[in-house]
Amino acid sequence: MRVVSGIQPTGNLHLGNYLGAIRNWVRMQDEMEEGNRAQAAAGGSADRNQCLFFLADLHAISQPHDPAELKKGTLEMAAALVACGIDPQRSVLFNQAQVPAHAELQWLLNGTARMGWLNRMTQWKDKAGKNREGQSVALFAYPVLQAADVLLYQATHVPVGEDQKQHLELARDIAQKFNNDFASEEAPVFTLPDPIVPPQAARIMSLRDGSAKMSKSDPSDMSRINLVDDADEIMKKVKKAKTDPEPLPSEAEGLDGRPEALNLVTIYAALSGRSVDEILVEFGGEGFGKFKPALGELLVETLSPISTRFTELLDDREAIDAILARGAAQARELARPTLDATYRALGL
Ligand code: ADP
Ligand code: NA
Repeated sequence: MRVVSGIQPTGNLHLGNYLGAIRNWVRMQDEMEEGNRAQAAAGGSADRNQCLFFLADLHAISQPHDPAELKKGTLEMAAALVACGIDPQRSVLFNQAQVPAHAELQWLLNGTARMGWLNRMTQWKDKAGKNREGQSVALFAYPVLQAADVLLYQATHVPVGEDQKQHLELARDIAQKFNNDFASEEAPVFTLPDPIVPPQAARIMSLRDGSAKMSKSDPSDMSRINLVDDADEIMKKVKKAKTDPEPLPSEAEGLDGRPEALNLVTIYAALSGRSVDEILVEFGGEGFGKFKPALGELLVETLSPISTRFTELLDDREAIDAILARGAAQARELARPTLDATYRALGL
């Protein structure tokens, strides 16, 4: 298996980013490792199962952006990934901009992708809205870059959420048409990647409003737990988190119509690896006076090693630069044969 996945390099990372996105990557990395061990034990294939994780900084320029913020966000996201457990020795971690093959392959695939295919992309329609004429060409062609991102490495599997399924379909269509038009069935240039649906990621809500997603763009810092928050801040935010006056129910159905309570229990469940029902067996019938401190402690226990490492890395710009440079060198190496084969197939 070769899994390739990208993430937008946003800054100001919070618990929602960790539980909703970053932690799944760490799980995938661990699964690859297990696969390698099982293969070795069975004396089987020497092909290494591997994840390639990239920061999608090239994608970020498809919409208006601040260059200084992009640079900062890229470094922060890299530091956060490493702090959360992405191991640059086991996975290839890099940013797109340092691997020119992404942009090159996109151009080469632009000859194969059809306008009609891109016009049908619902994300394009949603993001462009009524103002198509005012959008960048990059926003329109974004899914072709996404295709290049995975085809470049002969990815066998790509984790996709609901909103990305259509783009992976497009990547497969592009790969198939290219193989048909410019390669033989015996020697295709591109592997058609299969989707893997990531394990149900927790959707974490604001601590101040159970109907809003926890987000970096919420003006209230009390609405979110940041990856850099210290123990006191975490305990304070949990204590002040909005709740209702009822005690916790003893079964999950009892949380219907109680979004704030549901959110806190969901966070506890995600951090402890236990189900909501199991947690309610323990805390059902109790008020938040008992549950909140337990949740706060669990958050501190989970996040403090992450935030310590994260802060250390942010203070050591050279260390992050070195990690990304090394990952980019590995990625360039892995990309070379496919890029060369693409040029050759096209008569270039
Ligand atoms: P924000 O909403 O803070 O701007 P982004 O949109 O930059 O966050 O999201 C980065 C990643 O983190 C995405 O994969 C997104 O799905 C995930 N994510 C962001 N907020 C949450 C949340 N509240 N719960 C779960 N996942 C989240
Ligand atoms: Na966002």
